[in-house]
Amino acid sequence: MTNQVIVLNKRPSGKPTTNDFKTLTEQAPDARQGEILLRTKFVSVDPYLRGRMNDKKSYVPPFELGKPISSGIVAEVVESKSEAFAKGDFVTGSLEWKEFQTSDGKDLVKVDPQAVPLSAYLGAAGMTGRTAYFGLLKIGRPVKGDTLVVSGAAGAVGSIAGQIGKIMGCRVIGIAGSDEKVNALKNKFGFDEAINYKTTKDMAAAIAAACPDGVDIYFDNVGGEVSDAVFQNLNINSRVAVCGSISGYNTEEENKGPRLQPIINTKRVLMQGFIVSDFDDEAEEANKQLVTWIKHQEIKYAETIVEGFDKIPQAFIDLFEGRNEGKMIVKV
Ligand SMILES: NC(=O)c1ccc[n+]([C@@H]2O[C@H](COP(=O)([O-])OP(=O)(O)OC[C@H]3O[C@@H](n4cnc5c(N)ncnc54)[C@H](OP(=O)(O)O)[C@@H]3O)[C@@H](O)[C@H]2O)c1
Repeated sequence: MTNQVIVLNKRPSGKPTTNDFKTLTEQAPDARQGEILLRTKFVSVDPYLRGRMNDKKSYVPPFELGKPISSGIVAEVVESKSEAFAKGDFVTGSLEWKEFQTSDGKDLVKVDPQAVPLSAYLGAAGMTGRTAYFGLLKIGRPVKGDTLVVSGAAGAVGSIAGQIGKIMGCRVIGIAGSDEKVNALKNKFGFDEAINYKTTKDMAAAIAAACPDGVDIYFDNVGGEVSDAVFQNLNINSRVAVCGSISGYNTEEENKGPRLQPIINTKRVLMQGFIVSDFDDEAEEANKQLVTWIKHQEIKYAETIVEGFDKIPQAFIDLFEGRNEGKMIVKV
């Protein structure tokens, strides 16, 4: 049986292109004693993978040239020589961009296709859902009546962060990159207001107009100029959860934005970065809560599902063009 594998062909310079990836064909592996053979069903493509394509030390090691890329994957157990798994089980975890692969199952979690659709374990009921949950609840610390602004609001993390904000009683304003996304934020995800940062000339003024009482919590997914504009509207004792800064992931020059210290100082802003894995001890509890909210339709989630193993690199590249609403996922 043949097996397709996607490896890092070269380190991207600026925005990634499909030439940065290469598809190899190899023989599918056999499960040894204690192992399972997995067939990939759904692959998560995520902005943070861009950082791993640089040869730079970070909180996760860089991908190696010529070696398979890995990301969150939902897979089916097609053969089991392990007591912990049975044929037909579904699992999720960090796996390689391969159609088939073996695993000892140690870092994999079984998922229930009856609870929520399998793809949701890569998004709202998985890593990006937990990112929204922990970033907002642990760092944003919402109080009923707070004004919450979310950037990257129509994406996987942002759309869930805003809805958790609504559950916590906040007034929620989303920032996103198209009129369709602005419409979805207000009409599908229940945000109170939404702003298209690509067509708005004076973002600071637009945020001030949408937030007459100022901004108490900023859930920052994008950094850059959008965030500069939000900072101008922060209230005294506001909190900023720094989740990501996708606006700078493809730029090689040093980011020279405004100096924020005077705002942080005079407004007594509490600003903290976080990585979702900081809260792994509480991941199970968060997953349960997210699944409950999804089942009770207190949280709605969107997915942009692209079909075909060979489409994984393009789906990843499309994240930087904003071609996704909600979680970008490849169905294999
Ligand atoms: N801290 C953590 O543990 C953690 C975990 C997961 C994700 N993250 C971070 O959270 C952020 C969102 O991740 P996600 O998985 O939910 O991705 P996502 O928001 O579903 O997809 C990326 C979105 O970013 C927006 N974007 C792309 N280029 C941009 C730019 N130059 N300026 C502003 N927006 C831009 C696009 O939406 P528009 O059409 O609106 O531009 C695009 O749809 C990323 O920064 C990611 O690195 C952090």
